[in-house]
Amino acid sequence: MLLSFSSKDPQETKNIGAKIGKLLLPADFLNLNGQLGAGKTLLVKGIGLSLGIPEEEIVSPTFVLINEYIGLYPLYHFDLYRLEEDYELEQIGYADYFYGSGITAVEWGDLFAHYLPEDRLDITLNILEDEKREIRLKPNGERSGEIVKRLRGQG
Ligand SMILES: Nc1ncnc2c1ncn2[C@@H]1O[C@H](COP(=O)(O)OP(=O)(O)O)[C@@H](O)[C@H]1O
Ligand SMILES: [Mg+2]
Repeated sequence: MLLSFSSKDPQETKNIGAKIGKLLLPADFLNLNGQLGAGKTLLVKGIGLSLGIPEEEIVSPTFVLINEYIGLYPLYHFDLYRLEEDYELEQIGYADYFYGSGITAVEWGDLFAHYLPEDRLDITLNILEDEKREIRLKPNGERSGEIVKRLRGQG
């Protein structure tokens, strides 16, 4: 069920993001994990590109928690790295995003795993060396399984 990509440089990570982005539909949920500098934000930039969101608009929401972008569909981009308490997530009304009708991409989602929708695409980025990254996709339900199936079909 796992699908793994290897990326040789930042551009390739963006391209992989764009490939994923093309298949996304409203209410899809992406949970991105991997150490700082692995390329999570860059992958979201690629996803945004295929939704028609200019790359420079997509910036890390590490300090603001969430950025909302308007593209073909709304894209909600979270970064939970600096979040400490559950109530902070509840205060911003996370459920309207996580269970709403936009596409949601959450960096460091595993830190608050109990809030994430069940059917989500888990994306793990690993730094292999220098500019080499491994990007692993793991579906957790019917809809995320469909996304991975279609990606696999593209070869
Ligand atoms: N193959 C690669 N894919 C993604 N980023 C890469 C790659 N090689 C080098 N980098 C660099 O690593 C950094 C990734 O940053 P970013 O996407 O903000 O990571 P994260 O959001 O995971 O902390 C960027 O400075 C980027 O130029
Ligand atoms: Mg980031």
